[in-house]
Amino acid sequence: MTRIGVTVDGSNYSDDVEPRMLLVHYLRERLGKIGTVVGCDTSNCGACTVHLDGSSVKSCNMLAVQADGHEVTTVEGLAKDGELHPMQRAFHECHALQCGYCTPGMIMQSIDLLNDNPNPSEEEIRTGLEGNLCRCTGYHNIVKAVQSAASAGSAGSAASKISTSSTTGGTS
Ligand code: FES
Ligand code: FES
Repeated sequence: MTRIGVTVDGSNYSDDVEPRMLLVHYLRERLGKIGTVVGCDTSNCGACTVHLDGSSVKSCNMLAVQADGHEVTTVEGLAKDGELHPMQRAFHECHALQCGYCTPGMIMQSIDLLNDNPNPSEEEIRTGLEGNLCRCTGYHNIVKAVQSAASAGSAGSAASKISTSSTTGGTS
């Protein structure tokens, strides 16, 4: 077992984990962050995407111990005071989901995309999301949602880079 300290969605956690434990399993099984889902666990689908220190990562593609000392934001940490993050709202308003399985990862990747490029072209959006697979929508409304969020100026939203709170929540 290895002791890690990690901030997730604004709360601090300190836990003993197996060195081989994947970050996505730590988030789901130890912290109950089941909004982050597993679609493949071979780093192909992007469903498990979260932010590590504000940048998107596939949480099935890194170990929980690699998150030690870092700040993780999941889709569950985006809404503030009962208000959806602008990207969540854009996905809702543009009907950018059907089964919704890819949606947490799509939203996290889309926020990262706009943080890097606040006014992407359609092609840049499609390229930016090519690591996230959707079996339902055909991607059209997902692209529209990202365009809508970009038009609304949601790039660089503070919600994607949550400041560390003093809340402590050990789960061991
Ligand atoms: S579950 Fe991580 S990329 Fe598919
Ligand atoms: S909405 Fe079903 S996989 Fe994307």
